[in-house]
Amino acid sequence: MNTTVMIDKINELKERIVSLSASSLEEVEALRIKYLSKKGEVSALFNDFKSVAPEEKRTVGQALNELKNMATERIAALREALETSDSAADDLDLTRTAAPLPLGTRHPLSLVRDEIVDIFSRLGFTIAEGPEIEDDWHVFSSLNFAADHPARDMQDTFFINRTPDVLLRTHTSSVQSRVMERTQPPIRIICPGRVYRNEAISARAHCFFHQVEALYVDKNVSFADLRQTLLYFAREMFGPETKIRLRPSYFPFTEPSAEMDISCNLCGGKGCSFCKHTGWVEILGCGMVDPNVLRACGIDPDVYSGFALGMGIERITNLKYQVKDLRMFSENDVRFLEEFTAAH
Ligand code: DAH
Repeated sequence: MNTTVMIDKINELKERIVSLSASSLEEVEALRIKYLSKKGEVSALFNDFKSVAPEEKRTVGQALNELKNMATERIAALREALETSDSAADDLDLTRTAAPLPLGTRHPLSLVRDEIVDIFSRLGFTIAEGPEIEDDWHVFSSLNFAADHPARDMQDTFFINRTPDVLLRTHTSSVQSRVMERTQPPIRIICPGRVYRNEAISARAHCFFHQVEALYVDKNVSFADLRQTLLYFAREMFGPETKIRLRPSYFPFTEPSAEMDISCNLCGGKGCSFCKHTGWVEILGCGMVDPNVLRACGIDPDVYSGFALGMGIERITNLKYQVKDLRMFSENDVRFLEEFTAAH
């Protein structure tokens, strides 16, 4: 055979072999037979080689060997690609447990807030919210604070502006007056939220913290209703054995006012260092809404009466989870936050 024809054939075959593809092992085997078996196209060229002129044998022989190696490698590569992808599919175990997804945790204050709201919602209270940036009227004046009450002092309250007065609310009681101003009784609301006070930050005090306020105004609301609501809350929150105790107290916006203690949930009331050996721990302030407050908010105190109560969420969280340092609530240390995974 003419050498040039032979070289042309070799090149043409090389081009075809480079672009070979196969989608199954059977197809690979067919390609092997087509090109490399004894009767295959490459072997056929080796037969033709015999008739190449002796002085050309070196060049043509080299080209033929290259072709053969190339075809062998190409077909082996096609086979290997199919075999490895097949074996990966064989190893796939769909019954195997999936790797765990890293899940975040809820903040302890959110967990406790939701629990408090949940308990009150079972008594028919619905959530009400108000702004954190407030004015003197809603935080103080409407709530019967005297003009010279020390809470109005800049040492206790963060003022944004003096005249007109813009300040950060120091308690969620401001939501009471906002709701009473725009709603006639019956009113039954629970108001969770953040409050601010001008305090030096330490393990026991912070310049912001969280409260929940509850307000019930209707005809014939009595102190007995307040007491029963408190007892229900305490038992739902701290367990059915919990006892409550009301001590007389003073708040400008309630009359009479009281502070509520619960039997120490650590020692069960026997006395321990947590309850300073009294068997009781204080958890909230409460009372009957002062008629002055009802009047200031446009509700007739001769027709309606009501009770209010307010508590710190950090305080309740401390009682439930014994968090010793208030600063931990706002540091966002994941080691602390992850301790509450099981509480979800
Ligand atoms: N606002 C009070 C405080 O920040 C808590 C409080 C006490 C709220 C008595 C009330 C209440 O509604 O009746 O300390």
